[in-house]
Amino acid sequence: MAIYSIWSLSFFLVFASMAWAATYTVSEKYVGQDFLNGFTVQNIADPTHGRVNYVNAATAASDNLTFASSTNFVARADFTTVLDPNGPGRNSVRLMSNKQYGISSVLVANLNHMPEGCGTWPAFWTVGDQGDDWPNSGEIDIIEGVNNVGTNQGTLHTSPGCTMPASRAETGTALQSDCDTAVNGNAGCGVSFNDARSFGPTFNSNGGGWYAMELTGDFIKIWFWPRGTSVPSDVSSDSSSIDTDNWGTPVAYFPNTSCSLTSHFGPQNIIINLTFCGDWAGAVYPSSGCPSTCVDYVNNNPAEFENAYFDFLSLTAYT
Ligand SMILES: *[C@@H]1O[C@H](CO)[C@@H](O)[C@H](O)[C@H]1NC(C)=O
Ligand SMILES: *[C@@H]1O[C@H](CO)[C@@H](O)[C@H](O)[C@H]1NC(C)=O
Ligand SMILES: *[C@@H]1O[C@H](CO)[C@@H](O)[C@H](O)[C@H]1NC(C)=O
Repeated sequence: MAIYSIWSLSFFLVFASMAWAATYTVSEKYVGQDFLNGFTVQNIADPTHGRVNYVNAATAASDNLTFASSTNFVARADFTTVLDPNGPGRNSVRLMSNKQYGISSVLVANLNHMPEGCGTWPAFWTVGDQGDDWPNSGEIDIIEGVNNVGTNQGTLHTSPGCTMPASRAETGTALQSDCDTAVNGNAGCGVSFNDARSFGPTFNSNGGGWYAMELTGDFIKIWFWPRGTSVPSDVSSDSSSIDTDNWGTPVAYFPNTSCSLTSHFGPQNIIINLTFCGDWAGAVYPSSGCPSTCVDYVNNNPAEFENAYFDFLSLTAYT
């Protein structure tokens, strides 16, 4: 019977592969104003001790630290104010998505620009459960780096019991294997990108590009395609459906070999933030080639932060 054979064939295919789907359809697409509707501007303290003052949504809008057009969304830090050394840090924004994206989801960000400058520590990342029970629901850093130095780093931060094999199918360079936040001052299990265009001034002068992250029960993958290079057509066309099997070797590959991803990663909120100095950018500032001390530089040189902004063309979430 034809119908019976189709059923048995599909059951066979499903159970024979036991793989997570590589095809996804769009769940949310954020462009321009959608970022302000779909994200919350959070005026909270920076847990990583940055020289930052995260403002609320009204101040962000009136000071033009958030700006939406029909095609672009910009989030930036203040670049006009000399700070009182005894007062709060530099005004900046932290945005968290209202929706969560869990196992079996993909995020694709198309950016023209990311924050640059000595003392800057920009990040585009996800965290489980709004960060409330951190690190039990996991953290996935997609874009992160400091002080204009080097390339991008993709990193997982988890509760104990999650490590990454040394050798894996990725184009980036694996750093620490243990993802546990308690190990080595919360370094996490990172992968350093090899393409200079993946971060900071070089990313910006190249016109940005696309970052993508896929979260499944089998693996987490991060890809980066610089503007002007060969980009999968479903990514460059912002297609309503995607097939990650066609995207090639990722820059960062985190398999579930010695880490149950389904138990270390809960539904993730997306976070876009820009802080200054603090635990990472401040700690490595003296070896960054940047002038003065981090805090003095951030306090006294507002004009140096005119390029400390994210400019998103789109952020698309697929499930
Ligand atoms: C901002 O981003 C950095 C880098 O990921 C992160 O470590 C820090 O905790 C963030 N600050 C806030 C308030 O989320
Ligand atoms: C607000 O920011 C946007 C994006 O950077 C810029 O195009 C616009 O001119 C700014 N508006 C004002 C009033 O400064
Ligand atoms: C990895 O994923 C596979 C397939 O989903 C699953 O069978 C296996 O138990 C997982 N391994 C770990 C350590 O979680």
